[in-house]
Amino acid sequence: MTEDLAKEVRELKRRRDAVLLAHNYQLGEIQDVADHVGDSLYLSRKAMETDAQVILFSGVKFMAETAKILNPTKTVLLPDLEAGCSLSDSITAEQLRAWKKDHPGAVVVSYVNTSAEVKAESDYCCTSSNALEIVRRVPESQEVLFLPDMFLGNYVKQRTGRKNIHLWVGDCFVHTRMRPETVRRMKGEHPGAELVAHPECGCSTEVLPDVDRVLSTDGMMRYAKETRQPEVLVATEVGILHRMRKVNPQTSFIPLSPEAVCPFMKRNTLEKVRDSLRDIKYRIEVPDPILRRARKALDRMVEATATSPASTTVSAAIA
Ligand code: 13P
Ligand code: SF4
Repeated sequence: MTEDLAKEVRELKRRRDAVLLAHNYQLGEIQDVADHVGDSLYLSRKAMETDAQVILFSGVKFMAETAKILNPTKTVLLPDLEAGCSLSDSITAEQLRAWKKDHPGAVVVSYVNTSAEVKAESDYCCTSSNALEIVRRVPESQEVLFLPDMFLGNYVKQRTGRKNIHLWVGDCFVHTRMRPETVRRMKGEHPGAELVAHPECGCSTEVLPDVDRVLSTDGMMRYAKETRQPEVLVATEVGILHRMRKVNPQTSFIPLSPEAVCPFMKRNTLEKVRDSLRDIKYRIEVPDPILRRARKALDRMVEATATSPASTTVSAAIA
């Protein structure tokens, strides 16, 4: 059944002149049939570069919107319109405008996990791959409004040592549950295991010394390919384990929280991917004035990190 569906998807991709981009949290069977699998930054670049007429984005809505903003002449499809993001929903453009009024002259750095309207109100976008790099571009004398993830923001604040970064109090309900207690318990059960954590995790700042590496999802994939550790604890959404285990069967990759499943990411199924290509649905559109303003913030991010590898780690090993 899965093989038949996968075959149909491959055939439809060819007929529709479509490229299938899948985020690292997608179901394994979708990852296996995708043209590119990766983190937000890597997939944004793939969306921007593609010559295909159709971009089918198997991820969540803000990712498909980002693809549309970066390559507006293409038809951009999302398999399920309910594939949202709780983090992205934690700030509206109106709230951001009010926040900006309280901090005139501040530079707004928005994580890509935001709506197109919020991006349009921002100076820079960033992803978990390049947040540090982007914030370091802002002159020391200028205030920074960092949004919407407070854990990523806190991490950036700690690593840059800057005092003038203001944080929006938003979080991802999947990552926020990975608390310092979970880290201590799992480290006790797996002595000697290395711990890699996504910067959105609720443990990424409080127990930083216990975290061996803070990495974006592609950073984790690169680490997975290279590590010779017998056991690794993985603090992020469990979808990433599919490829980690494939690229390195020698290492045992253990989820820090097996219940860390993003229900939005998991709304996409292989069947919906097939239907999306067959019926050319659901089209993602961004109104032109919003698109043009949001594009500026995304372009600044892409330009600022143009020389970085396609997918970069947030930090090297933490001593
Ligand atoms: P990455 O860009 O690291 O893949 O993160 C995206 C995301 O939504 C994490 O929850
Ligand atoms: Fe959003 Fe969290 Fe899901 Fe990522 S894991 S898409 S931040 S809700």
